[in-house]
Amino acid sequence: MPDRSISLAEGPIPDSLTSRAEIAIKNIDLLEDPGSLAETAPQPDMAVAPIIRFAGVSKRFAARRSSDAVVALDGIDLDVPRSSILGIIGRSGAGKSTLIRLVNGLERPSGGRVIVDGVEIAALKGRALRQAQRATGMIFQHFNLLSSRTAYGNITLPLEIAGWDRARINARAELLLDLVGLADKRNRYPAELSGGQKQRVGIARALATSPKVLLSDEATSALDPETTQSILALLTRVNVELGVTILLITHEIHVIKEICHRVAVLDAGQIVEQAEIFDLFARPSHPTTRSFVQTITGVALPEEFAGRLLPGPKPGGTALLRLTYTGEAAEQPAISRLGRDLDIDANIITGQIQRIAGRPLSVFIVAVPARAEAAALQLLAKLGTEAEVMGYVA
Ligand SMILES: Nc1ncnc2c1ncn2[C@@H]1O[C@H](COP(=O)(O)OP(=O)(O)OP(=O)(O)O)[C@@H](O)[C@H]1O
Ligand SMILES: [Mg+2]
Repeated sequence: MPDRSISLAEGPIPDSLTSRAEIAIKNIDLLEDPGSLAETAPQPDMAVAPIIRFAGVSKRFAARRSSDAVVALDGIDLDVPRSSILGIIGRSGAGKSTLIRLVNGLERPSGGRVIVDGVEIAALKGRALRQAQRATGMIFQHFNLLSSRTAYGNITLPLEIAGWDRARINARAELLLDLVGLADKRNRYPAELSGGQKQRVGIARALATSPKVLLSDEATSALDPETTQSILALLTRVNVELGVTILLITHEIHVIKEICHRVAVLDAGQIVEQAEIFDLFARPSHPTTRSFVQTITGVALPEEFAGRLLPGPKPGGTALLRLTYTGEAAEQPAISRLGRDLDIDANIITGQIQRIAGRPLSVFIVAVPARAEAAALQLLAKLGTEAEVMGYVA
C-alpha cells in the first residue's frame, strides 16, 4: 500500500487521546458493536475479498413528463479493497453520488449487483436492509446535521434509532466526540459550529454504529483548504486506526492525491480508468484523467510555445518532449545525458517535481533539435525515462 502523504501527527489528535494504548482501547470499544453486517455476512476469505464489489452495475432513471430518461451508470465493474481509501473522481453529473448511494441502498441498481461485505444490498428489505445500512456511514458536502440538535444530539441520533439504551448511547457519544476532537463542543448547535467542526460532527455521527465502510460524498468541497487538510487527516486516522474502508467521491483531484490509495475515474456513467494513486498521476491515459491530473502535475506548455505548436517537424526546427521521471532525483541526469551523449542542446522549458503518495514524480518539458528527436527518444528509453513528443516549433 502506498505511503500516505498526511502523517497522523498532523491530524487533529484530541488532548484526551494522548497515548497509543488509550487510542487502542478506545478503538476496541468503537469497533466492538453488534449490529454490523458481520453477523450475516459469510466469513471465508473475507480478509482478502473486496469489501465492496460493483459487478456490471447500471442505473437508469426513468423519464418524467418534462425530462428524458437518464443512464446515470453504465456497466460499472469496481472492487473496493478492504480497509483501503478508494477515491472516485468525476465531473458534475458523472454519476458519483448515484454510485455511492447504491452502496447503502438509497438507490437500487437497474442492472448488475452491488455486494457489500458479502451481502447483495438490493436483495435486502426491512430490518435486514436497515441492519446493513448501519454498517455503512455517510458524510456529505453540506453536513446534513439537524439544526435543532446539539453536536451530541446529532451524534446520538442513529443510536437512538437503533434502539440503544441511554447509558450505552452516552458512552459511545463521549468516545466519538473525543475521536473527532469535539469534546468541548458537545452542547453546541450546528449554527454555533464552524464548517470543519460541523463535518467532524458528521463524521462522528457516521461512525456511531461502528460501520465498516464510510461513504464520503464531496465531504470537503464546502471547506477552506486548511480545514480540508484537517478533515482529510481525520479521515486518514479513521482508516488507519479503525480499519474503516472509505469510499470517497470528489471532483477535486488534490483531495484524491492527499489520502487515497486507489482511484477510479468516472465519466458519463462509466469508469474510464482506475489505478493506484501514484500510477494515475504518473501515467494518466484517459483524456478526463489527464485534465484532472494536469491541475496537480501542472506542467503545461508556456503560451509562447503552445501558440505556435506544429504537428510535424520543420527543417532546422525544434521538438518539444514531455519527460516523466518516477524515480528518485538521483536518477534524473537524463537531460544532461542528452547533451553529453548526443552533443545537442537540450533546453528545459518548464518542469515540476513533487511527491505523490510519498514518491517523487517529476515532469519536464524539454526542447531538442528536431533532427535529433529519434536519437533522443532512443537514449531516453534506454535510460528508462518516459518521453512523449508534444509537437514542434519552427
Ligand atoms: N433521482 C434522479 N432522477 C433522475 N435523474 C437523476 C436522479 N439522480 C441523479 N440523476 C441524474 O443522473 C446523473 C448523475 O447524477 P449524480 O448526482 O450521480 O452526479 P454526480 O457525479 O454526483 O454530480 P455532482 O458532482 O454534480 O454531484 C445526472 O445526469 C443526474 O441528473
Ligand atoms: Mg454528487
